[in-house]
Amino acid sequence: MSYRAIKLVKRPELEITEDLFDMVTQAIPQPSEGEVLVKLTHLSLDPAMRGWMSPDENSYIPPVKLGDTMRASGIGEVVASENDKFPVGSRVMGLMGLTEYALSNGDNLNQIPKELPAEAILSVIALPGITAYHGVFEVLKPEAGQTLIVTAAAGSVGSLVGQMAKNKGLTVIGVAGSDEKCQWLTSELGFDHAINYKDADFVEQLHNATPNGIDLFFENTGGTAQGPIFDRMNPHGRIAVCGLIADYQKAEPAPGPSWVSIIKRRLTIQGFTMPDHFHRIPEYGQALGGMLTKGELKYRAHTLKGLENATSGINMLFEGKNQGKLIVEL
Ligand SMILES: NC(=O)c1ccc[n+]([C@@H]2O[C@H](COP(=O)([O-])OP(=O)(O)OC[C@H]3O[C@@H](n4cnc5c(N)ncnc54)[C@H](OP(=O)(O)O)[C@@H]3O)[C@@H](O)[C@H]2O)c1
Repeated sequence: MSYRAIKLVKRPELEITEDLFDMVTQAIPQPSEGEVLVKLTHLSLDPAMRGWMSPDENSYIPPVKLGDTMRASGIGEVVASENDKFPVGSRVMGLMGLTEYALSNGDNLNQIPKELPAEAILSVIALPGITAYHGVFEVLKPEAGQTLIVTAAAGSVGSLVGQMAKNKGLTVIGVAGSDEKCQWLTSELGFDHAINYKDADFVEQLHNATPNGIDLFFENTGGTAQGPIFDRMNPHGRIAVCGLIADYQKAEPAPGPSWVSIIKRRLTIQGFTMPDHFHRIPEYGQALGGMLTKGELKYRAHTLKGLENATSGINMLFEGKNQGKLIVEL
């Protein structure tokens, strides 16, 4: 019996191209003592994968080694086990890679409930949900009555950020790259305003949507929206720097706004990455599960079929072609 896996064989210069990967077919292994064999059912495609391909050692997580299976998170079922914590039949989630089967020693593998659809887990309970939850409640610490803005608002992280803030009684503005996405944010998710950053009058629309300025900024993109949003920040405002997708494929990142305003407006700006907080997954997962059950969080999943579509799929994130959480169903 054999399975397919995608190896990273070359590092990207700028964009992700098919020659960076090699799809290999190999024999399904058996677990040694302490290990489990997982049959993957769903893979998550995330913007962070672009960073994991780069050679930068000075980051929050080491790069994927050339020749190794490309790192990705996913959901699967334990089909053979030499580890008491994960008996055969367990449903698990973890960073198992772009592969149909994976061996794991159980570290950083989390048991997940069997009753929830995989789309709900990957869209809400997994990385997007814990990222939104941590950034909103641990970094921005919202209070009712404040104004929060989020970029990549119709994406997997951004859509949850906005809903969490709305549920806390904030005024919420989303920034997204198409009118369809903006429409979804206001009509389906209850955002107060949604603005297309590609509109020529983006700055004017932003002013009109934020008559009292902006208290909290959840930054997912960088790019053209960043400067105008920064200029609307209120004194003592807080900015959570979660992602800068507009810069991930550039040779040189764009310069940020001047630090003078950080002093004048006494801003707090904090970057964060979730691997620092993975030990809180059980706690965050429980909170997110509760919100999902109560109907407080809506999501949409964008599902591609088959491992062969995984690598080209990553580019959809950089082109704004994903409508919701990008998932590969195996
Ligand atoms: N810090 C962490 O631990 C952590 C964890 C997860 C995610 N993140 C970051 O959070 C951000 C969102 O991730 P996600 O998984 O939720 O992805 P996503 O929002 O579902 O998809 C990415 C979206 O980014 C937008 N985008 C792409 N290029 C852009 C550009 N040049 N300018 C402005 N927008 C652009 C596109 O939407 P439009 O159509 O609206 O342009 C695209 O759909 C990413 O930057 C990611 O790296 C960070």
